[in-house]
Amino acid sequence: MVVLGIIVGLFIMLLACTGLLRWNELRYRKKGLPPGTMGWPLFGETTEFLKQGPSFMKAKRLRYGNLFKSHILGCPTVICMDPEVNRYILLSEGKGFVPGYPQSMLDILGKSNIAAVHGPTHKAMRGAMLGLVSPAMIRGQLLPKIDEFMREHVSNWHGKIIDIQHKTKEMALLSALKQIAGIDAGPLSDSLKAELFKLVLGTLSLPFNFPGTNYHQGFEARKKLVGMLKEIIEERRASNCPKNDMLDSLLTNDEISKAKLTDEQIIDLIIALIYSGYETVSTTSMMAVKYLLDHPNVLEELRREHLEIRKQKTTDCRVGWDDYKSMRFTRAVIFETLRMATVVNGVLRKTTQDVEINGYVIPKDWRIYVYTREINYDPYLYHEPQAFNPWRWLDKNLESHHHFMLFGGGGRLCPGKELGTVEIALFLHHFITQYRFVSSLCLCMYVCYQVTNLHVVTIKFVLISFLFVVSLFHRWEEVGKNEIMKFPRVEAPHGLHIKVWEN
Ligand code: HEM
Repeated sequence: MVVLGIIVGLFIMLLACTGLLRWNELRYRKKGLPPGTMGWPLFGETTEFLKQGPSFMKAKRLRYGNLFKSHILGCPTVICMDPEVNRYILLSEGKGFVPGYPQSMLDILGKSNIAAVHGPTHKAMRGAMLGLVSPAMIRGQLLPKIDEFMREHVSNWHGKIIDIQHKTKEMALLSALKQIAGIDAGPLSDSLKAELFKLVLGTLSLPFNFPGTNYHQGFEARKKLVGMLKEIIEERRASNCPKNDMLDSLLTNDEISKAKLTDEQIIDLIIALIYSGYETVSTTSMMAVKYLLDHPNVLEELRREHLEIRKQKTTDCRVGWDDYKSMRFTRAVIFETLRMATVVNGVLRKTTQDVEINGYVIPKDWRIYVYTREINYDPYLYHEPQAFNPWRWLDKNLESHHHFMLFGGGGRLCPGKELGTVEIALFLHHFITQYRFVSSLCLCMYVCYQVTNLHVVTIKFVLISFLFVVSLFHRWEEVGKNEIMKFPRVEAPHGLHIKVWEN
């Protein structure tokens, strides 16, 4: 009897589930929509998407082609994996494709945040942003500060186990604070850093505003940050001493920041500046170190480039614009890291009206996931795409290829592309030139060599030669098992620990 009850119960549940799935499909069965499935009411296919990541996308593409519908992250969404169509969408903001980032992100980053505004307001905010990070500003104002900051940031690591993930996150935040308002490491940067970390977590959460949730904490962190930034702005206005930083440019409203922004807009612009560069720059720097650890030949070539620059300088001499411009291989390493690690999987858009793509009609208010990840592994664009090969960027001018979307495209193309590249390049420069990284085996032998009083010249010679060869291949020592997750975000859940020695 009990067994029969269970069987009937299961049968009813199965019927109810099938009914719900069917009902949800029918709800979205509009003529003209691309093929695909919508999953469960409300949740859609979010769980499968987050669990399976790129495999989910590949399986769908195999079944439905490059353009398909689904329901992910709380919204009916069309996912586009066609490079040509993706390019068209990025170039067509005026035709009804505006940024479509999750509500939690927009709430916490502010209503004047650059990703939340379109039309003339976006033009004004973007103009101000571009003025702050233009090549002329990088060359004249930002590069010397970044150089000084990076040199200091990587100092005192000798003989220590360093969590590169933690250090690169700190680097991205503190470097931004220094450039924006000349804030050095200290109590003020500590308070700002604590709130900024909470804010970032809040933007990546579901928008449930209960005490204890990441969203709630992110929202509270925003309030505190806005308060702190207001104080900094007031102090700056009261002081007559020019600081020559981004805040000065924004407040003086000179020709660099042509548009007159309100204080609220200035604060949201500063938050956007820090937020947009934070995860991208820190993750790319961490992954570059990881790839260098795994590819000693690339590390060797990179070292050569940076030692060549240092050879022409005294120890304290600063890295200049021309030095940065000569870092061709470094730039290639950065782009290859961005490609292989897929720091950016794609960008989100929202339709402001019914729009037609490839003969399908996407209704108003749907999300479009411009999924660029697969382009990074396209064998027609990148020969042997699974190989970490920075040289490919030197041979062909891939950076100007019209399917190059590592920094987005169209009217939203990343304004911080060059600034981000400078930060990562200078981080690598100081890291590589200040430290030599040896393996435990090599270190062990070196210590033995020092403590045992070896007088036989041939033995010494053999040991030195062996140490030299080993050190060529083992410069950095990874400590423990450093696992890297690539989806939905690139991160090392337990950190990326390595041990370094001074050069
Ligand atoms: C390796 C580093 C970086 C990568 C890979 C990257 C990537 C991107 C991508 C893909 C977009 C397009 C988003 C979209 O279309 O919705 C974007 C936009 C943006 N990025 Fe970056 N970014 C990087 C560094 C930075 C830095 C350092 C800044 C700081 C200035 C920055 C500021 C921005 C801003 C403000 C936008 C929005 C532009 C707009 O809506 O007009 N990014 N970035």
